[in-house]
Amino acid sequence: MDTHEITDRFLRHFESKGHTRVPSAPLILDDPNLLFVNAGMVQFKPYFLGEAPPPYPRATSVQKCVRTPDIDEVGKTTRHNTFFQMAGNFSFGDYFKEGAIEYAWELITKPQSEGGYGLDPNRIWATVYNDDAEAAGLWRKLTGLPGERIQERDGKDNYWDMGVPGPGGPCSEIYYDRGPAYGREGGPVADEDRYIEIWNLVFMQDVRGDLSPKLGHPPIGELPKKNIDTGMGVERVATILQGVENVYETDLVRPVIGRAEEFSGRRYGSNHADDVRFRVIADHARTGVLLIGDGVTPGNDGRGYVLRRLLRRIVRSTRLLGVQEPVLQEFAKVVRDTMGPTYPELVSGFDRINEVVRIEEEAFLSTLTSGSRIFDLAAEETKRGGGDVLAGDKAFQLHDTYGFPIDLTLEMAAEQGLTVDEDGFRTLMNEQRTRAKADAAARKTGHGDLSEYRKVLEQHGETEFLGYTDLQAEAKVVALLEDGQPVRSVAAGKKAELVLDRTPFYAESGGQVADTGVLLGDGVELKVLDVQKIVPGLFVHRVEVVDGEVGLDTKLTGSVDAHRRLSIERSHSATHLVHAAVRGAYGKRAAQAGSLNSPGRMRFDFTTPGSVSADVLTEVEEEVNDYLQTNVEVQSFTTTKDKALELGAVALFGEKYGNDVRVVDMGEYSRELCGGTHVDRIGQLGLVKLVSDASIGSGVHRVEALVGTDALKYVRKEQLLVSQLANTFKVPSDQLPGRIEDVLTRLKNAEKEITQLKTQQVLGSAGALVDKAQDIGGVTVVAEVVPDVDGNGLRALASDIRGRLGSRAGVVALFSPAGEKLSFVVATTKAAQDKGIAAGKLVPSFAEKIGGRGGGKPDMAQGGGTNPAGAAEAVTALRAAIAGIG
Ligand code: ALA
Repeated sequence: MDTHEITDRFLRHFESKGHTRVPSAPLILDDPNLLFVNAGMVQFKPYFLGEAPPPYPRATSVQKCVRTPDIDEVGKTTRHNTFFQMAGNFSFGDYFKEGAIEYAWELITKPQSEGGYGLDPNRIWATVYNDDAEAAGLWRKLTGLPGERIQERDGKDNYWDMGVPGPGGPCSEIYYDRGPAYGREGGPVADEDRYIEIWNLVFMQDVRGDLSPKLGHPPIGELPKKNIDTGMGVERVATILQGVENVYETDLVRPVIGRAEEFSGRRYGSNHADDVRFRVIADHARTGVLLIGDGVTPGNDGRGYVLRRLLRRIVRSTRLLGVQEPVLQEFAKVVRDTMGPTYPELVSGFDRINEVVRIEEEAFLSTLTSGSRIFDLAAEETKRGGGDVLAGDKAFQLHDTYGFPIDLTLEMAAEQGLTVDEDGFRTLMNEQRTRAKADAAARKTGHGDLSEYRKVLEQHGETEFLGYTDLQAEAKVVALLEDGQPVRSVAAGKKAELVLDRTPFYAESGGQVADTGVLLGDGVELKVLDVQKIVPGLFVHRVEVVDGEVGLDTKLTGSVDAHRRLSIERSHSATHLVHAAVRGAYGKRAAQAGSLNSPGRMRFDFTTPGSVSADVLTEVEEEVNDYLQTNVEVQSFTTTKDKALELGAVALFGEKYGNDVRVVDMGEYSRELCGGTHVDRIGQLGLVKLVSDASIGSGVHRVEALVGTDALKYVRKEQLLVSQLANTFKVPSDQLPGRIEDVLTRLKNAEKEITQLKTQQVLGSAGALVDKAQDIGGVTVVAEVVPDVDGNGLRALASDIRGRLGSRAGVVALFSPAGEKLSFVVATTKAAQDKGIAAGKLVPSFAEKIGGRGGGKPDMAQGGGTNPAGAAEAVTALRAAIAGIG
C-alpha cells in the first residue's frame, strides 16, 4: 500500500467518524518555544488550552513534522526520520479514551478490502501509563487484546507533552510485532526494534508547568476539558505495509537513495557504512526541501542552522560515497516529484528551493576546501608534537567556523591515523549550547504565567476591536492587572494592565506597532502606553494612571493618538506596496520575512536567493511612487482563507490564519491577508523614499523607507547637505561631482609631486655620504644617521650609495630618527656578500641599541626601532661587527 493510500485511508476513516479534515500547518508556526512543528497537535494547541473556541469538536489531519534532536541517529537505526508525516485524530472536549482506542483499533485491523490497514490483531501490543487501569481495561474490553500484551510503562515513555509548559497527558501507545527475526521476545518494554511503535494516543487532560510529568513532577493544573490527541507515524506504518526493512526504504523516501546510487555507482545494501550514508541523504533531502518550501533559509543559528547542517550532511555523505560534483539540486528534484503531490508548495516554489540549495552547496564546497586546509595543519601539528590525538578545541573550531560535523572530523582524523579528543569537543559544544539557551531564555518576554489572562478571556470573551473605523469610543473596564495578578483598582501614579470590553486601540501585530493615546472617565485620566494581545483575542492595554483612580466597571472614553495612527497607517500601506513591487521584481521567490510599521518609517525584510541590486531597488521605489498617483481606494473584506488564496491574496510564510481572514486590496496592484489598519486612499502616502537596504543574513534582505512628511524631511536634509557642498566648492550643485573629482585628482598629483621632490632631495645627499665612507678591514662602510627620511626614501638612498660603491666590498647602513621612532636600512654590495657579509645577519649587532627589530636578505635588510636616541651607538656597534667579520 503506498503512502498516499495510507494517509488517504486514515483521513477517510476519521471523516466517517465525524472528524473535520484539516490541512497540514506549515513547519514553522509563530511559537517561540518551538523550532519546528513536531506533532499534529501543534496547530490545535489554543483549543486544548481553552484560549480559543474550537471551530469543530473533532478534527483529523496529516501533519508534516520535523524533529531534529536525533540527527546523529539518522540512518543508523531503522526508524529515525528528521522529517515525517504524523496522521492524527483530535477531540476537543468531545470523545475521550474509549473513542480513541476504538477508532484506532478499527482502522489498523479492518481488512484492506474494507478500507483498513489489515494488520494481524495477534501482532498488536499496547502500552499504558503506570496504573492507568482504565485504559488497560478499555483495551481488553473493546479490542479483546489479552492482558499480557498490554504493558505498563512510566512517564518517560507514556506521558506526552510538548517538552515545554502547555497541554499534556498520559498516553497509550500501539506497537506492531515484526517477528523474531527482528529481536527479542517480551513486548515493547524488551525491544523497540522488533516491536515498533506505530501510534500514540494521548489523553490530553493536564497543564504541564516548568517541570515535566514525564519525570514524575505533578502537572500544575487541569485543562478546561478532556481531549484526545493522537499521532500515527505514517512512515512506520508504510514500512510495515510495504514489507520493507526500514523507513528509508518506503515509497516516498527510497527514490532519493536511487538517485544517489546513480550518482555514485555504488549499490545500496552492499555495506553498512555506505547504507548509513544513503539513508542520511534520503532523510535529510526530504527535510531540507520541505523546510525551504516553508520559508527557512540556511543560516548560522536557530532554524537556519539546522537546515544548513542537514544540507551539509547530504553533501558530505555524497562525497563519502565518492561523488565530487554538486548534488543538492538533483536530490531536490526527486523530493519535489515524490512529495509534491501532497505538498504543492514544493512545486510552485521549486525555483526558489533550487536556488537556495545551489547557493548553499557552492558555499559549503568552498568551506570544505578551506576547512580541510585547517584540518591538515592541525593534524600535521599534532603529529609533529608526537601525539596521535587531535585536540578538542581544534575539532570545535572546525565545527563552529567551518561547519564540519564532528563525524567528518573523526573520519578525516582516522584516515591520518589519529583520534580526536571527543570529550574536550563535547565540553566546548555543551558550553556553547548552554550559552545559546541562556540567550534564548533572556529574550523571552516577561509574561510567563498566562493563566489570569486566560481567565479574563473565558469570563468576558474576546475584546471587540473598533479601531478599523473609530479612533474614539466608549468602553468599560472588565479587568485590571498588576504584575499579571488581578486587582480591583489602580490609583494615580501607577502603571497597570487594563482590559476593556471594546477598544479603538490597535494591539501590536502583523508588524504594525500598537496605538497610544488616552482614556478619560469621570475624574480619571489614563495614558495608554502600549497594547498587546497577550492571549489571542484579548487586547491588554498597558496604562499609566495620570489622575484619579480607575476601578473595575469604570466607564472610559478611549481616544487614539490620531496623528500617530495615521502615520503608522501610511507606513503599513507603504509596506504592502513595497512588498508587491519586490514580488514584481523577483517573482514569487521573494517572500516576506518580517516587517515593522512605525510612525513615518517602515521596514520590510524579504528572502530571495542571491544579491539585490541597487537598480532594482530604484525601480521598486519608482514603481511604488508612480502607483501612488492612481490614488486608488484601499479596500478590505473578510472571507474564508481558501477563497482569499484563490483570489491570489498573498499569505505569509509561517503565519497561521484562522478560517476567516481579512483581505486588504490596493487596486489591482496588491492583495494581502492582513489584520492591520490602512489609509483610505494611497495618495495619502505622499511619498515613499527608500533609505537603506542591506543583507541581514543568508538570503534575507532588509529595505527601510520613510513615508509621507518623514520622507520629505529626509529629502530636505539631503538637499541641504548638497547645497552646503555647492557653496563650499563654489559651483552649481549639478557640477558638484565633476568638481569634486577634479579636486581629488589635483590633490593626488600634488602628493605624488611632493614625494618625488623629497626623494630627489634625499638622493642629492648620496655623494656627500659616499665621501664619508670608511675602510674597515678591507670593507668600505657608509654608516650614517640621516634624520627624517621615510622607509622608501631610505631604501632608495641606500641603493644609490651601494651603486656608487661599484665592485668594492661595501656595506651601507642608514639610520633615520623621526619623532619617537627610527627606521633603518642595511645594504651590501655583491663583493661584500661574497666575503660572507649578509645584510640581514648584521641587524642583531645593533638592534638592541635602537630598541628595534628587523631582518632581511643578504643584500638588503630593513626595519624600525623605538629608541631613536640610540642611532649613534647603533652605528658604532655595526662598525664593530664588520671589523669582527673582516
Ligand atoms: N502528540 C502526540 C505525539 O506527538 C500524539 O506523539
